[in-house]
Amino acid sequence: MVGGSVPVFDEIILSTSLMNQVITFDSISGILTCQAGCVLENLSQYLDEKDFIMPLDLGAKGSCHIGGNVATNAGGLRLLRYGSLRGTVLGLEVVLADGRVLNCLATLRKDNTGYDLKQIFIGSEGTLGVITAVSILCPRKPKAINVAFLGCNSFQHLLETFQCCKVMLGEILSAFEFLDASCMKLLEKHLKLSNPIGECEFYIVIETAGSNATHDDEKLHNFLEEVMMSSLVTDGTVATEAAKIKALWSLRLRVSEALTHDGYTYKYDISLPVEKIYDLVKDMRGHLGDMAKNVVGYGHVGDGNLHLDITSTGKDPALQAAIEPYVYEWTSKWKGSISAEHGLRLR
Ligand code: LAC
Ligand code: ZN
Repeated sequence: MVGGSVPVFDEIILSTSLMNQVITFDSISGILTCQAGCVLENLSQYLDEKDFIMPLDLGAKGSCHIGGNVATNAGGLRLLRYGSLRGTVLGLEVVLADGRVLNCLATLRKDNTGYDLKQIFIGSEGTLGVITAVSILCPRKPKAINVAFLGCNSFQHLLETFQCCKVMLGEILSAFEFLDASCMKLLEKHLKLSNPIGECEFYIVIETAGSNATHDDEKLHNFLEEVMMSSLVTDGTVATEAAKIKALWSLRLRVSEALTHDGYTYKYDISLPVEKIYDLVKDMRGHLGDMAKNVVGYGHVGDGNLHLDITSTGKDPALQAAIEPYVYEWTSKWKGSISAEHGLRLR
């Protein structure tokens, strides 16, 4: 995504893929210690058998390594519920540039013995050292999962649905994600995915994860009744079984893949106050006019993280000059961040 592993001149690329062993797992505390080259999905499968989950989940889980996740401070879909890696990572082992090994591989929930050294390596993108092992706090596997795929006709309605969702689903809410109508068109066109509900301006994926299916179903049902009755949501569908949950999630997780089939993509990963996130997409559309092929918005509403992607038939320096610094100035004006979860490609 950010090109950190793409050599441009004479960089050396290190692979940790052979460092792929779980070192320890404590089923009382839920603390996992593993080597940096473990693939995120393999760790999830390892934990699933023990009734635990990884505190992070992202579209690239089938190929990304936990060491890289920590080095880039990956966000993903569960940040809303379990917080960032700055909270769930308990310890790291890091090899410094001169070969010294820094062993901060603690497995303690609390440790106030001065500076928290591991924090400077989380999100450091390989610039300060190479992460070789990680200790991470893993939550219990929820007993009940529900996914709702809903449609709204304005971003204001989507925001009100989010507020209502926080009030009514509170402790069981595990994700609140969105994509706009332009994303849906690209999913249909390039990946042949079909929209499970009627056409809307915005689509929301809500996931609940709780400990009691009956209670969760009741909460979700009451929430859906409320947002439908008040016309915040115009259409929707709900899944409880694994295959349908996966199909609904694909509509959100595969947006980025659909964009790669649409042409050259200029990608921005912005944090903003949540009520502002879609204004940037609208302003950018107006600003670019017909210079761009598509300007789309999707992302992690619960984290105030917008993915703004702009496609073009080929690389287009004039288009890029129209996008930047406009996008950065816009973000700065609203005190946002120009990299919410993908890093800066530090070198
Ligand atoms: C996503 C990637 C682009 O959220 O971060 O789909
Ligand atoms: Zn994302």
